[in-house]
Amino acid sequence: MPGHFQFSIDELLKQIGKAAKAGIRAVILFGIPSKKDPAGSEAYSPDGIVQIAMKAIREGFPDLILISDLCFCEYTDHGHCGAVKKDGKGSWEVDNDATLELIRKTALAQSVAGADFVAPSGMTDGAVRVIREELDKAGHTKTGILAYSAKYASAFYGPFREAAQSAPQFGDRKGYQLDPANVREALREIQSDVEEGADMVMVKPALSYLDVIAKAKEEVRLPIVAYNVSGEYAMVKAAAKMGWLDEEKAALEILQSIKRAGADLIITYHALEVAPFLK
Ligand code: PBG
Ligand code: ZN
Repeated sequence: MPGHFQFSIDELLKQIGKAAKAGIRAVILFGIPSKKDPAGSEAYSPDGIVQIAMKAIREGFPDLILISDLCFCEYTDHGHCGAVKKDGKGSWEVDNDATLELIRKTALAQSVAGADFVAPSGMTDGAVRVIREELDKAGHTKTGILAYSAKYASAFYGPFREAAQSAPQFGDRKGYQLDPANVREALREIQSDVEEGADMVMVKPALSYLDVIAKAKEEVRLPIVAYNVSGEYAMVKAAAKMGWLDEEKAALEILQSIKRAGADLIITYHALEVAPFLK
């Protein structure tokens, strides 16, 4: 993915320094473990890469808002967003209940390491409920939950999966991500995350789903987050490289459209590049 790298901790701190200097107040972290296994154990190990990274960032940047993506696809050798099992017909599927147990452990490990928000992104049913329960039980009542509530099974995740080496090794994610044709299911998913205790809800991707963002904004009285995903970013980069688009203008117009649709927060790979224009 152009302009994006897997960082070691020391390089990460330099990158965070640039972001802070540009006026960016929050970052979301994704980890690539040194080794992947069926249960994605580096996701919840106290020595997991994201936990170490957050501790290091916290020391140097006490005011930066730290959000930790909470999923297992980067950590599992099979590349799915949770533990897998064989269903009644002999094909593999994500084991929702087993995954909830992994989510509990991971949320707590991330919160202990300094996350201000944990962000469950695997579309596991009940994730928000078990995270809130686990964090409260440990006295981590101030750690918030940013729920990836309406996450579609999208072609626009391609560059991320390549960068994060997290493509599923068999099957696809249609069993747990939403059908792009469906809007009411997205609203139902958002509503149930609100009821389970989410502090912010997300629509992902953003650009092909502006209608979903707008509807969520009308229905829900929580901050609406939109994720301007890797494929949306890569399209702009590629067209700019060909000389077909004015990159700066196109990126800003896209972000403006996402904001106009109703997003209160936008996660975007253009952040460092556009920050100077937004001051
Ligand atoms: C999965 C996850 C995805 C992205 C981040 N975490 C989607 C997927 O692989 O299904 C994609 C983000 C992007 O494309 O920018 N938990
Ligand atoms: Zn995942």
